[in-house]
Amino acid sequence: MDVDTGIDDALALLYLLASPEAEILAIASTAGNVPASQVAANNLALLDLCRAPEIEVALGSLTPLAIPLRTTEDTHGPQGIGYAEFPPSPRTLSQRSAAQLWVDLVRAHPGEIVGLCTGPLTNLALALRLEPRLPRLLKRLVVMGGAFNHPGNTTPTNEWNVHVDPEAWQEVFDAFAAAPADRRPLICGLDVTETIEMLPDHLPRLAERAESIPRHEISETDTPGTRSKASNPIVRFVTDAVRFYFEFHRAHDQGYLAHMHDPFAAAVALDPGLAVTRPATVDVELGGTLTRGTTVADWAGMWGREPNADIVIGTDPARFFDRLIARVGDFAHAVYPPA
Ligand code: BDR
Ligand code: CA
Repeated sequence: MDVDTGIDDALALLYLLASPEAEILAIASTAGNVPASQVAANNLALLDLCRAPEIEVALGSLTPLAIPLRTTEDTHGPQGIGYAEFPPSPRTLSQRSAAQLWVDLVRAHPGEIVGLCTGPLTNLALALRLEPRLPRLLKRLVVMGGAFNHPGNTTPTNEWNVHVDPEAWQEVFDAFAAAPADRRPLICGLDVTETIEMLPDHLPRLAERAESIPRHEISETDTPGTRSKASNPIVRFVTDAVRFYFEFHRAHDQGYLAHMHDPFAAAVALDPGLAVTRPATVDVELGGTLTRGTTVADWAGMWGREPNADIVIGTDPARFFDRLIARVGDFAHAVYPPA
């Protein structure tokens, strides 16, 4: 996993920890929603919360490839996890850089690893510079990012993960131009991830599954910043993190809900059958004064270049949420059984 944790990145990580068929080999911490050191601290602390076994967490580049870092604490909270707060973790960071970690792992497990990126692609681009065979050494790459025939969420045409480091995305799309059809990256763009709407009603279902009390903790009329009293620590974390995301989306006229971009990408990484995809040639605008950072998809082969991506064009959000609630709820129950 390569993440910029991040409220929805945290839920993506929880989803994978809760999924028996997933083995998380390592976690790369990428600068994006918050600085890389904060991302790494969040990843380590989340593993503590989940009483997870030792999983290597590496620090990524502190800055994007070519431009200064921009972070978004207004979207994800001062530490990147909404209203939740983590104590410092006793776990230690890897000695390897995130880019070196990518390279070492794909060389050690050729054709076996699914890479999941839910933040800017800075470290993956750096890894590709170290190991150009990486697209063929990975089993599959699944990324959250871009917006296709859809408005951006950062500028009128930019999705956040691409906006932070457009050069990195271009290097990655270029590198995958040579990948065979079954190794093309699966791209979960905003047009689909914005249909993955978490609603206040999803949280009592999660609490019930985990046997956490009280069941009903979030309502649109609550005082902003109300803190969870959930008996289950994982449900408490999710509630405090997601409340911040609900308030952010409401403040931007999207309703009292939260787009679960990254957990959806995690679910697709485990089960590509959740997504309907269409091949396209994707490139990133690096020059435009108004459109720099825009992902452009050539669906019809007008550029005369082979497809370098499979873009997700549809899914069933209710099916995804049933899975998220069942998995994370059962996991929360198993890690913290009710007294
Ligand atoms: C993406 O941007 C980040 O803020 C989220 O974590 C997600 O990965 C959505 O545009
Ligand atoms: Ca993210």
